[in-house]
Amino acid sequence: MMSKVNAAITAVGGYVPDYVLTNQELETMVDTNDEWIVTRTGIRERRILKGENKATSDLAVPAVRELLEKRGIGAEEIDLIIFCTSTPDMLFPATANILADKVGAINAWGYDLQAACSGFLFGLTTGAQFIESGHHKKVLVVGGDKMSSVINYKDRNTCILFGDGCGAVLLEPNYEGLGLQDALLRSDGSGGKYLNIKGGGSLHPASHETVDAGLHYAYQEGRSVFKFAVTKMAGVVEDLMVKNSLTSEDIDWLVPHQANRRIIDATAERAGLPDDKVMVNIEKYGNTTSGTIPLCLWEWEKKLKKGDSLMFAAFGGGFTWGSVYLKWAY
Ligand code: UT7
Repeated sequence: MMSKVNAAITAVGGYVPDYVLTNQELETMVDTNDEWIVTRTGIRERRILKGENKATSDLAVPAVRELLEKRGIGAEEIDLIIFCTSTPDMLFPATANILADKVGAINAWGYDLQAACSGFLFGLTTGAQFIESGHHKKVLVVGGDKMSSVINYKDRNTCILFGDGCGAVLLEPNYEGLGLQDALLRSDGSGGKYLNIKGGGSLHPASHETVDAGLHYAYQEGRSVFKFAVTKMAGVVEDLMVKNSLTSEDIDWLVPHQANRRIIDATAERAGLPDDKVMVNIEKYGNTTSGTIPLCLWEWEKKLKKGDSLMFAAFGGGFTWGSVYLKWAY
């Protein structure tokens, strides 16, 4: 009898650009200060992709190359690329296609998935379906955003929060019961008004007027988003724990989206998890949107052990939110 097929993460890659935008530099750009940013958000610096003709796919190429090298496989072995991003290189073609071309994934099909800060968890769950169904053996799930391309560096409400970065994971079949165990994913479109980019889509196609009005920049009503984020992100982790009869003792790592240190702490507290079980690197990278969760895995990879129980959690624009329960496979 064939045992059940799970989709397991078998390799991780990551990349952040070199340029460090510190709170001190932001103090010279907008009316803000290091103390406010650190106490309200936990962020000290973020990375920015500088240079002409550089886009989100350029963040993904080094991440994917690192992943392939670690796993010891060629790009032509990839069956599918799901590129989770809210800052695609262009409206189309999909950044997944651009990435495939740049890394030589000539046998892969692919598409972009847009769920703002929950993008990576939506992509992970979607990608897992192709492994569990037996359709594919190697699915690449990439989460990356060049947030600096949609940030108004004159708006202190948003420019202190975001950074550029990208992480990628490989999903492969696992027959030992490891890998993705369960997920709860949610959306509520009525939250769209609090966090969005209005310009450049079919509602407000780019024009002189949309640019003059700044509609091509990320807009956020921070306080409203914060309230929902704290409640929903902590709530969905708790729901997934109850659904799988998990106590805090059963969980080795919380892998939270990195939007605000206070949201992360509230989620950890509600799940009963101490600081040393929570992955936090927001102080270095800020909010990289689809990149936060895979960049945490990238940084903590060496500490993870086969069989470890990971709870992922995210909340973001849409609103979208969710939690994924996964057992580490290597
Ligand atoms: O990842 C996608 C989901 N996004 C999130 O989860 C983000 C959720 N929201 C947040 O993390 C927080 O709401 C922010 C970090 C964005 C803002 O923190 P807050 O504690 O909610 O501050 P606030 O917006 O209530 O502003 C408090 C004060 C205001 O001044 P008054 O009205 O009290 O005089 C702001 O004008 O802080 C002021 N302020 C700033 N001061 C210095 C706002 N931004 C800044 C700034 N520097 N950058």
